Amino acid sequence: MTEVAGKTAFITGGASGLGLATARALAARGASIVLADINSDGVAAAASDLASTGARVLPITLDVTSEAGWAEAGEAARRFGPVSILFSNAGVGGGSGPFEQYDTEVWRWNYAVNAHAHLYACRTFLGEMKASGEPGHLVITSSMVAIVPPPISVAYISSKYATLGIAMALRNELAPTKVHISVLMPGMSATRIVETTRELRPVEVEVGKAAATSQAMQGVLAGGMSPARIGERVVQAIEADDYWIFTHPEWKEMAEAVTADMLAAFGPSADPDYRGDDIAGLIAANGGRMFGTKGER
Ligand SMILES: NC(=O)c1ccc[n+]([C@@H]2O[C@H](COP(=O)([O-])OP(=O)(O)OC[C@H]3O[C@@H](n4cnc5c(N)ncnc54)[C@H](O)[C@@H]3O)[C@@H](O)[C@H]2O)c1
Repeated sequence: MTEVAGKTAFITGGASGLGLATARALAARGASIVLADINSDGVAAAASDLASTGARVLPITLDVTSEAGWAEAGEAARRFGPVSILFSNAGVGGGSGPFEQYDTEVWRWNYAVNAHAHLYACRTFLGEMKASGEPGHLVITSSMVAIVPPPISVAYISSKYATLGIAMALRNELAPTKVHISVLMPGMSATRIVETTRELRPVEVEVGKAAATSQAMQGVLAGGMSPARIGERVVQAIEADDYWIFTHPEWKEMAEAVTADMLAAFGPSADPDYRGDDIAGLIAANGGRMFGTKGER
């Protein structure tokens, strides 16, 4: 999609941070914006702020973990305009502490928001984006931690790996269509994610060491990259049909180390008499493509 002017974008987590920054950058290029967020007051305020710049904006209160909520949001958005840019971005932090002591309700909530909601987003809009025959664009927010995992929350990191996995698989599936896909892989950005996570956490707030970790993360992220710069980069990626959106090159060396570690672990076949997997047959059986095979994906 080279031209975003005149298109309608639906953005989750649109009340704050990377979602709102991308909304501003899209609106500045003439796109109409549906801002969806669980924070009703926040999304109303963000929408009125954006509208004061001349943008066409519709605020929607949406909990991305609610399938019924998505049905209503889909109808409201359709009345506003045909969605051709879908930014599935809402996310929360995962808390901390040893994995074996992890709260199961927090685990389910973290996965529901960070990973499962992409399915609801796509069930709501992707079918009609494909069927329109017009160029469309899906952006999904993962994180740099899905390539280089730092020693923070297992729940957060693994949900962002799941998100990257969804994008990797969808990349194959969407390749023959007019809907392009990007996966946003930010490093640290100065957003409200630690605060919103604290506010939305479904069980009592963290205490002791876990609370101190959350406080420390808030301090580290405060020095992170401006969301406005990342929002601008997301729009450039939509315009250029870039799949990977890397915003923080300082992580590249560690990404290389992670990849090198994995590749170095490839050894001989576990069965010296085995002829090797029929990868072409696998692809043909699924009627699709796979990244890196004969230049296709
Ligand atoms: N800030 C960073 O350093 C960073 C780094 C990598 C990835 N990310 C990812 O960027 C995305 C955006 O986060 P952010 O940093 O802008 O944080 P943010 O808290 O500023 O914005 C996230 C928004 O998502 C909303 N939200 C949370 N749960 C929701 C739900 N159930 N339904 C609807 N909306 C919900 C919040 O109300 C908030 O407005 C997240 O997916 C996050 O994991 C952030």
